[in-house]
Amino acid sequence: MSQTIATRFTRRFGVPHPVALAPMDKVAGGRLAAAVARAGGLGLIGGGYGDPTWVEAAFAEAGDAPVGIGFIAWSVAERPELVAQSLARRPKALMVAFGDGGPLVEAARAAGVPTLWQVHRMEQAEAALAAEADCLVVQGQEAGGHGMDRGLTALLPGVRDLAGPELPVLAAGGLADGRGLAAALMLGADGVLLGTRFWASAEAAGSAVAKAALVARGGDETLRSKVFDVARNAAWPWEFTGRTVTNAFARRWHEDLEGLQRVLDAERARYDAADPDDFETRALIAGEALDLIHEIRPAGEIVAQVVDQAAALLRRAGEVLVPVS
Ligand SMILES: Cc1cc2nc3c(=O)[nH]c(=O)nc-3n(C[C@H](O)[C@H](O)[C@H](O)COP(=O)(O)O)c2cc1C
Repeated sequence: MSQTIATRFTRRFGVPHPVALAPMDKVAGGRLAAAVARAGGLGLIGGGYGDPTWVEAAFAEAGDAPVGIGFIAWSVAERPELVAQSLARRPKALMVAFGDGGPLVEAARAAGVPTLWQVHRMEQAEAALAAEADCLVVQGQEAGGHGMDRGLTALLPGVRDLAGPELPVLAAGGLADGRGLAAALMLGADGVLLGTRFWASAEAAGSAVAKAALVARGGDETLRSKVFDVARNAAWPWEFTGRTVTNAFARRWHEDLEGLQRVLDAERARYDAADPDDFETRALIAGEALDLIHEIRPAGEIVAQVVDQAAALLRRAGEVLVPVS
């Protein structure tokens, strides 16, 4: 790597490269977050639904690598002690998503920890700006995992306009390589936050069967739905849907949530009894970026490849400019 890309994000968060690891619940453990951090990106542990034992183990696994942590706002609201416990570890950054991030941003600011707030619609960007988050992560509906209905291409420059010229903004959703980073920069972002691409990495916490499925499937075979939140009894606010690989369970119930509710106990029992690697029943969380993922790679190589490819594209970008004849 001969050049990297310096942005408002790299300067504010003190990282060499404008690439962040999405704080994926249970997938982004200490090993993956540390690998991304050591490669010069921002590595975020997936604090998810707030399991204190898991969070402690993840920090321990990250060792002396400078990692941050992300939380799901509506879930961790009931566990303020876990946020305090995490901030006491002096994380590199704290990310919040899905709900009112205000209290977490305030707690992090008091602890001197910079914050990221993931938004899915313009109105959420307004809330994040009002709370004075240090960076907005703009997530398009292409993303793996929970999100909303807006695509990235209009939302991202829209949020940039709203945020003004100073604030770091990251793009998320459907991005997996240097083309995504270069395009995101052109749309007003200062870097990318990648989930699905890092899920398909050597250090991600997940089974070989799950990772092989990520490589085998494509973006057409994913679906944004409420099915798995209903089946898993997850108390997600109704406005958020989750993008997963489409499977037999999702095909059966996606168009018939009322029917699922009528037989919920039996279907929930069937879901819970399924082998964790039975991805015709279980949710395999992934986004449209599956189209761009053809192998499991070490996370550090992913960071380097994304930056190298984007830098090469940016160097060549001016070649389309010719004098007007
Ligand atoms: C397996 C998986 C788990 C996720 N879990 C979380 C989570 O716990 N908290 C969160 O804020 N976002 C979570 N996300 C969403 C990411 O923050 C991010 O928006 C998304 O991965 C970006 O889109 P991409 O998957 O196309 O890269 C998850 C995504 C995936 C793929």
